[in-house]
Amino acid sequence: MSESTNIVWHDSEVTKQERQEQNNHKSAVLWFTGLSGSGKSTVSVALEKELHEIGVHTYRLDGDNVRHGLNKNLGFSPEDRTENIRRIGEVANLMVDAGLVTLTAFISPYREDRDRARKLLGEKEFIEVYVKCSVEACEERDPKGLYKKARAGEIKGFTGIDAPYEEPVEPEVTIETDKQTLEESVQVVIDHLQQKGYIG
Ligand code: PPS
Repeated sequence: MSESTNIVWHDSEVTKQERQEQNNHKSAVLWFTGLSGSGKSTVSVALEKELHEIGVHTYRLDGDNVRHGLNKNLGFSPEDRTENIRRIGEVANLMVDAGLVTLTAFISPYREDRDRARKLLGEKEFIEVYVKCSVEACEERDPKGLYKKARAGEIKGFTGIDAPYEEPVEPEVTIETDKQTLEESVQVVIDHLQQKGYIG
């Protein structure tokens, strides 16, 4: 891939702050990370619905969906996962600039990749949500039958089986989907957003 040269940043006349004021809430990314089957999509879908209902402007980016389009040329090698997360960080950054509470639901297994996104967004606008769930519980759920395939050797490099998942060290929020109900997990995130003044 060649890199762009001779390009100059062009500012808009509407600032992020003006967009946030018009929306009546701050913008930030809720970066969901966790194993396949941990509940990232389920919780982020339910949370987005709740936020939308109380007037928060949101958008959700999801691994399976984004890999159908923007990232359809990427697989699951460590390099491709890193590139996947790099692009998502950039897209999320644009969405936060547009004033949205952005929910991303990607395994994002590497700490370094998540930290790069955190650095890009900045501490105040990056909320890491660790969707904690044991491999055993995820494997038990196996909603897509992928753990079974990985165990049978039909999928190589499956996260949690023969590819790593690096747990967050100091996530802003942790939800435990093998211990909490969906409603409880959603509420934990909403409480965080309210306590930290992102939403009213
Ligand atoms: S990553 O690691 O962040 O780049 O992955 P992500 O973009 O979130 O995509 C994860 C979904 O892809 C399916 N899938 C796999 N997951 C992990 N490892 C391997 N090898 C793999 N192959 C396919 C799987 O459906 C994941 O969806 P979720 O929603 O996480 O279960």
